Amino acid sequence: MQDHRTDRKTAHITPEEMAKQRQAMAEIRALADRPQTFCVVTYGCQMNAHDSEVIAGMLMEMGMTEAPDRESADFVIFNTCCVRDNAERKALGNVTWLKEVRKRNPRLRIGVCGCMIQEPGMAERILKQYPFVDLAFGTANLYRMPELLLRLLRDGGRVVEVAEEDTIAEELPVQRLRRDAAYVTIMYGCNNFCSYCIVPYVRGRERSREMDDILREAESLQRDGVKEIMLLGQNVNSYGLGLESGATFPNLLRRLDAMGIERLRFMTSHPKDLSDDLIDAMAGSRHILPQFHLPVQSGSDEVLRAMNRRYTRADYLGRVKALRSAIPDIGLTTDIIVGHPGETEEQFLETLSLVEEVGYDSAFTFIYSPRVGTRSAAMPGQIAPEVATDRIQRLIAVQERRQRERLQRFVGTEEQVLVEGLSRRSDTAVSGKGGHGISITLAGTEKDIGEIIPVRVTGVKNNTLTAERL
Ligand code: 5AD
Ligand code: SF4
Repeated sequence: MQDHRTDRKTAHITPEEMAKQRQAMAEIRALADRPQTFCVVTYGCQMNAHDSEVIAGMLMEMGMTEAPDRESADFVIFNTCCVRDNAERKALGNVTWLKEVRKRNPRLRIGVCGCMIQEPGMAERILKQYPFVDLAFGTANLYRMPELLLRLLRDGGRVVEVAEEDTIAEELPVQRLRRDAAYVTIMYGCNNFCSYCIVPYVRGRERSREMDDILREAESLQRDGVKEIMLLGQNVNSYGLGLESGATFPNLLRRLDAMGIERLRFMTSHPKDLSDDLIDAMAGSRHILPQFHLPVQSGSDEVLRAMNRRYTRADYLGRVKALRSAIPDIGLTTDIIVGHPGETEEQFLETLSLVEEVGYDSAFTFIYSPRVGTRSAAMPGQIAPEVATDRIQRLIAVQERRQRERLQRFVGTEEQVLVEGLSRRSDTAVSGKGGHGISITLAGTEKDIGEIIPVRVTGVKNNTLTAERL
């Protein structure tokens, strides 16, 4: 896979192009035999979840309604992820399963989009091996879905389009998953080329939205009654790169904080770009929640170097210290990979000792998964699956113990919980996130969903907190 750093162009989608898409949406709406219902199946990260909100928004604009499940929909679209092999296999497995559903519902159209389609060779593979897929497009041309779908519905056949451009499309319709909380993308793509990661290849180079566009979107969400905004980007800390206005992430946060939206969160941050100014902006804010997702990936300097992370264990621990001294009790979470090529037992033990030392409130742990075209995939010293499995189990055991120990610090303290839904274990309890980003369960009913409820934490149960209303 080649590195596309130099041969891509960045631009805003022109008003003419956007008008063309609006026109296509109107034409589909007017088609007598268009699909009536849709289902978007999402894999992967928050960026994908938000792309799915845009897909749903566009489909609703075309006059479709959301089906109760994927079996009964006329149009099913899979928004895929390719960061790890298992996400990719799951998506392809489910696409294949739909082939059977189509035998019962010949009207069914099947679409596949997202990161997986941006992988080199994938579009050809879909055409050949998945003949029942009607429509495929990638992340770069998501905004062109109306035109592509119109072509499919009018002309039949199959429509597959992959583009390689670093563009920003403003003002696409969005169907939000939640009324009380919203995602706002502030930057797209990634320039970091961590050696194991496929994201820079499938999401393109970093590009930031204009600050005014972001503020306008946030204002309109605030008018709609949104209580919490999650700012999204692969590396939010480098927001502003390439903008003429000289905007920075801390300044964006300060402007949003001044607007008075109740809760502001963001992800993801790269430790090497976590500036003192960002910590200052957080510490001096009223609405930025005291939580931070800071992926460490490994506790070993040699592995971090092999991963091209561009910080050392000591640098990372220094950032954690700075965060904790400015924002005491900050909720801290991370991502960790075990079994990167060449990782020795001693180096893995350094990851264990880092987890022990930091004491994360939660961690996403992954077994390294080779991605074709990335630098790590070609490295010597690939780790045997049974060794990687053993390492991840030991890592999870340490993390879970540290998490239980660390969460005790919240017992007896007050939190504000934004209720997300009924608890999975009981229908007289609800759960949501407190300000520190930790899941909290309390007694409640459906009418609490979307409300911010003040509570006192009473205990730690599994990996969540229990609480009672104040
Ligand atoms: N194998 C395993 N985990 C990976 N991640 C990214 N690429 C890979 C890979 N090839 C993990 C990293 C990243 C998170 C989103 O996914 O930990 O922070
Ligand atoms: Fe992937 Fe590294 Fe970019 Fe994160 S910062 S998206 S891990 S390349």
